[in-house]
Amino acid sequence: MNINAMRARQSRPSVARVYSYVLGGRDNYGVDKNVGDYFMGDLPGSEQLAITNREAVLRAVQSMAADGIRQFIDMGCGLPAEQNVHEVVRRQQPDARVVYVDNDPFVVAHGRALLAVDDGIEMVEGDVSKTSWIREHPAVARLIDFEEPVGLLFAVTLSFLEDEEDPAGVVKYWAAQVPAGSRIYLSHFRSGRTREAVATERKILEAFGHGRWRTDEEIDALFGDLELLEPGVTPCVKWRPVSDATVHELSIWEEMIVSGMARKG
Ligand SMILES: C[S@@+](CC[C@H](N)C(=O)[O-])C[C@H]1O[C@@H](n2cnc3c(N)ncnc32)[C@H](O)[C@@H]1O
Repeated sequence: MNINAMRARQSRPSVARVYSYVLGGRDNYGVDKNVGDYFMGDLPGSEQLAITNREAVLRAVQSMAADGIRQFIDMGCGLPAEQNVHEVVRRQQPDARVVYVDNDPFVVAHGRALLAVDDGIEMVEGDVSKTSWIREHPAVARLIDFEEPVGLLFAVTLSFLEDEEDPAGVVKYWAAQVPAGSRIYLSHFRSGRTREAVATERKILEAFGHGRWRTDEEIDALFGDLELLEPGVTPCVKWRPVSDATVHELSIWEEMIVSGMARKG
């Protein structure tokens, strides 16, 4: 990378780096820390958005693997984390294949070094809104058998698509590509329910400049006519919790991000 590209990268916060910072990661710059520190300092508790989301993603892939899914496409995968999708699914499905997709070159560079560790895993630089481009990518053709159920992940990613990028159309496209038995998991920021939600949405959009938080009705609509699995669309912290101990009266932050999983019938 040349010096100008490096400077440009370091001068603007990236959603992947801020999210990773809030989760305790070390691959970030000062601009990312500033945004992360704002959330943790000025909106105390807001780190629960990242934490409860990440924990639910891992429970979702664990559940897909338990149901026999052996191939995954993780759309907007983010920076390598403490536990990654391939590591979690391979505990149950040792031969599982994973294609990680992200549009952030910083994520792609780290993902190629730390996630794509064998020939069952690929890291693709791509924009989730460019569905057919991803579908036709050689990495997808090599690793994903579209005759076999696929696990599709859109964890928070669709919150970073504008309406014009047609997030519901993205889900619909992929649902049409995969066979019966496939699973589609997504999580999404929930708009405007509290003063804190309005402040957080404003800060996220100001920092990253792209996307939209959506109402419950709009998030439900992202699933189209797919069959939603239990427990439906619910705050991430309540999405198939590991124990009843995690089911308590939710904080405003825990209420601010929801997830759901559908099965293609
Ligand atoms: C908040 S992180 C979530 C990471 C991971 N999915 C998770 O939930 O733990 C959102 C990720 O989506 C990526 N992203 C945002 N818009 C995207 C787009 N249009 N195409 C691909 N990736 C995108 C960002 O670069 C970032 O890595």
